[in-house]
Amino acid sequence: MGKKPLMIRNASQLVTLKGASVAPLTKEGMEKLQIIENGSVWLEDGIIQSVGRDEELAERYKDRMHEADIIDATGKLVTPGLVDPHTHLVHAGTRENEFNMRLQGATYMEIMNNGGGIHATTSATRAASKETLFEESKKRLDQFLLHGVTTVEAKSGYGLSLEVELKQLEVAKELHEAHPVDIVSTFMGAHAVPAEYKENPDQFVDIVINEMLPEVAKRNLAEFNDVFCERGVFTPEQSKRILEAGKKYGLIPKIHADEIEPYEGAELAGEIGAISAEHLLKASDKGIQALADNGVIAVLLPGTAFFLMAESANGRKMIDSGVPVALSTDCNPGSSPTVSMPLVMNLGCLKMGMTPAEVLAAATINAAHAINRGKEIGSIEEGKKADITIFDVPNYMVLQYKFGVNHVHSVIKNGEFVVEQGRVVYRNAPVHN
Ligand code: NIG
Ligand code: FE
Repeated sequence: MGKKPLMIRNASQLVTLKGASVAPLTKEGMEKLQIIENGSVWLEDGIIQSVGRDEELAERYKDRMHEADIIDATGKLVTPGLVDPHTHLVHAGTRENEFNMRLQGATYMEIMNNGGGIHATTSATRAASKETLFEESKKRLDQFLLHGVTTVEAKSGYGLSLEVELKQLEVAKELHEAHPVDIVSTFMGAHAVPAEYKENPDQFVDIVINEMLPEVAKRNLAEFNDVFCERGVFTPEQSKRILEAGKKYGLIPKIHADEIEPYEGAELAGEIGAISAEHLLKASDKGIQALADNGVIAVLLPGTAFFLMAESANGRKMIDSGVPVALSTDCNPGSSPTVSMPLVMNLGCLKMGMTPAEVLAAATINAAHAINRGKEIGSIEEGKKADITIFDVPNYMVLQYKFGVNHVHSVIKNGEFVVEQGRVVYRNAPVHN
């Protein structure tokens, strides 16, 4: 790269989350953030080169300090760039009308069954040009950056036809190349049964398996395969067929499970060896045990529960049962139109009984594992990507305690500033290594 090195100096807390690159953190492990006081980091060639107390790094780099850009992080909290492992980033339009209907008593599933919900966004996404989808999603990515997020997972699932699913995935790929935020793609053709197949959902399942999955895999457009396993959407049997079929193409299973009703989705995640099960508001005790026994990461979405006015998943119980827990926004136009991982962390504490340390582990290293990136991102360790967020708070507890405020001061992606003093500063040129 040949760019100037960057040295962050003297953070009041440098939260490294060191030592969990191979497997996600569980139980007490989630409480051990590995904090360095007066911490400093040397970044070069897009990589974290050295991490330690300021005096150590000052000594180690004394002959090269003049070459580097120096950032004084006195009084600030420095963490790994936040990772959002579950979003529906690429979509068109908004659904504030449904929000208003829900405030007057309509339920999420009623709205969907009457042709709204996912179907409404599917119509808007089918009608949108690639350019529109790109521009709308890019704005969201800038907002993610402003909230300290440097990597997001993005699902398709608002096409529900081969052509439009491919369109969404291609836009995600173009955004990955054009925008500093890294995007990891998931195919979710089984997000809803499209109106055309309402009377014959198995026929749609066959299309997902026989037409969509092979083409997505052939074009290398996704790493994961996800299904909305929910009563009235896809049954556990249909979900299993789709996820097992994806495995044959090397697509790793994920599952939207037990969101609205208990439906043995968590049990299925354990049975098929999914990397993660998501939502889990209504997961059974048996299901929670299945996640723990099989090392399935629970991706919890308290912003969705909040926005749907539902009781959150029992994050506390899951952690105490040994389930590795990650957090995510679920960013989508229906059940969680937010880009704020800091808000999601606040809700993790206030609505799911998680501690400030646990929510930070869940939004960084465990979130990275949920998208199979534990070795590259999610902690501040030598050799990892230089993705770092600086918050204008003195410690990680204040980040949770002063809720409802965006405390992000700066964001560094691949060793370069992309947010400075709360403003996006990256140039339009691609910045990926
Ligand atoms: O994760 N539950 C299914 N899918 C999304 C919502 C999608 C939508 O309403 O547009 C979710 O909540
Ligand atoms: Fe979702």
